[in-house]
Amino acid sequence: AEYQYILVERDERVGIVTLNRPTKLNALNTQLVAELSTALEDLDRDEAIRCIVITGAGERAFAAGADIEEMADKSPIDMLLGGFEAWERIRRIKKPLIAAVNGYALGGGCELALHCDIIVASENARFGQPEILLGIIPGAGGTQRLARTLGKYRTMEMVLLGNQISARELAELGLVNRVVPQGEHLKEALKIAKELAERPPIAIRLAKEAVLAAFETSLEEGLEAERKNFFLLFASEDKREGMRAFLEKRRAQFQGR
Ligand code: HXC
Repeated sequence: AEYQYILVERDERVGIVTLNRPTKLNALNTQLVAELSTALEDLDRDEAIRCIVITGAGERAFAAGADIEEMADKSPIDMLLGGFEAWERIRRIKKPLIAAVNGYALGGGCELALHCDIIVASENARFGQPEILLGIIPGAGGTQRLARTLGKYRTMEMVLLGNQISARELAELGLVNRVVPQGEHLKEALKIAKELAERPPIAIRLAKEAVLAAFETSLEEGLEAERKNFFLLFASEDKREGMRAFLEKRRAQFQGR
């Protein structure tokens, strides 16, 4: 597919999607988010791909938020009809998503990182939900995902004040997995992605689904989701191979079956 605002590459079994609007700090206009969700769905369907990295082009930003110029004159009905469901499509991606964050991850950019399963950041990365300063609030899950990750008080501070927070601080709070020297975010993300690509993909998919259940359901339902996925994996070739390889003291060769 031909895209205007993103780049899609493949590095072995890893898909890399780069938000590519650097002169606007990769601000997320409607078309960019539509292209992103389509590209992620294509990579999600592609059996050769095991993991997807999302990053931003340029030195300055992952994404500085939804496109304010585009939103400025919109009505609620424009927003309702305007392709916002693309975020729901991103939420439903089954393969692991890794955010490789450099510079600003603000507003919708921060929320996009929060859609990912692992967040790697350069030490110059700055996260924040500055929507309040525009007279709005986060709309792509920021209030919910931050609250479930950071708890109430840190989330209130981020969402009500709209200030930026460094990658290091968020790493201490458990929201950023790894902070690396400036410019090394993609390299580190690819390292993790390639390690994930070695893992049995069906188990990876069902593990992601089970962990997400902790954020989206009650404990009862989450435990049920985990148990079902656990039992289901006993039907996979990869489970037979993984356990046999252990007993035969050799490295497992996973086929994704
Ligand atoms: C549109 C944006 C933009 C944005 C930056 N730009 N962020 N355009 N929407 N969110 C554009 C600028 O207008 C400018 O274009 C160019 O990118 C470079 O940005 P500057 O502001 O000149 O850079 P700098 O002075 O270094 O400031 C960087 C910054 C600032 C602090 C990140 O750009 C900023 O505050 N941006 C807005 C951040 C924000 O409020 N995000 C939340 C948006 S609301 P020109 O053409 O002038 O060079 C949101 C809602 C999400 O995300 C809802 C769910 C999707």
